[in-house]
Amino acid sequence: MSLENHRDELATTACALATPAKGLLAADESTATIGKRFAAIGVENSEDHRRAYRSLLATTPGLDEHISGVILYEETLYQDSVSAEGTPGPPIVDLFANQGIVPGIKVDQGLDSLAGGLPGESWCTGLQGLQQRSARAYDRGARFAKWRAVLTITAEGAPSELAVRENAWGLARYARSVQEQGLVPIVEPEILMDGGHDIETTAAVQEWVLRTVYEALSSNGVFLEGSVLKPSMTLPGMGCASPPSPDLVAEFTLRTLERTVPVSVPAILFLSGGLSEEEASVYLNGIRRAISPAPWHLGFSYGRALQQSCLKHWAGHDVAAGQEALLARARANGQAAQGFYRPGSEPSDGTPLFEANYSY
Ligand code: 13P
Repeated sequence: MSLENHRDELATTACALATPAKGLLAADESTATIGKRFAAIGVENSEDHRRAYRSLLATTPGLDEHISGVILYEETLYQDSVSAEGTPGPPIVDLFANQGIVPGIKVDQGLDSLAGGLPGESWCTGLQGLQQRSARAYDRGARFAKWRAVLTITAEGAPSELAVRENAWGLARYARSVQEQGLVPIVEPEILMDGGHDIETTAAVQEWVLRTVYEALSSNGVFLEGSVLKPSMTLPGMGCASPPSPDLVAEFTLRTLERTVPVSVPAILFLSGGLSEEEASVYLNGIRRAISPAPWHLGFSYGRALQQSCLKHWAGHDVAAGQEALLARARANGQAAQGFYRPGSEPSDGTPLFEANYSY
């Protein structure tokens, strides 16, 4: 089917993801990545444990009050749930959808090194067979998709022009392809926090990246009203001496977005990118407070910053404790998305979540 047939549906889905006071739960860790999370809590990375953990997420009472959509990994989209007592249940995707949480699917197939690029640069794979996989995901209940392209800032001069162009073009080809199958594309050009660069450098690079992304989306005829942007916040490299103030992050992030993101894009949902749970909430709160009204819905699409406490409290067996911890961070971010979050008012795990050269 062509994009024309899906316009209304795409705009409606994007609008649902942009519900005020809500954001996305990114639970689409690849099998290798969830394995690292499980290893940290001493849980074996088996299919049964992944099923149990993702069932916990899907059955959290009241999660829909703060979460508008969930990004799933392919295994989870086609997986049945299990109850806390161990009895088989309905498909995990239905548990989310039945409480009004829109299911989405990670469709990229990971990063590969960029031939001709600078050391460490990557391109994002997954265009092959994308239309067929998207159609199948739609039939299973998915209504949006995610594709994570990654750019680095290095002393050797990255990102190169080649990396910026290739990653922008890949995002645009992906966005057009999934829209033709009725899925709203989450456009995610992540700029890693690795490095010792200052916030001005990040802002200049991010402006360049976002401008190039929106040019590529336009060249591919992507329907912006039926798309969502998932950027990193404009932050200095992790190697910088002290963390920036929320006011500074808000100032640079909003300046960058105002200069580059068309107002026809309904929502900007930030990734957490290695910020701690509390930092991710506090910075989002600062961004939201610094602009009112904003031309787009501003919210979150957090993976690590929503799940860290949950994983630790669950520890492979305590479903209720895991759910309570997840709900606390979801509530904190729901408030931050309105600029109402009072720092420290919800429990969080202080573990630094930054990991060099993170893959999803
Ligand atoms: P983090 O919030 O852990 O950065 O993950 C969000 C995400 O979906 C990255 O692709």
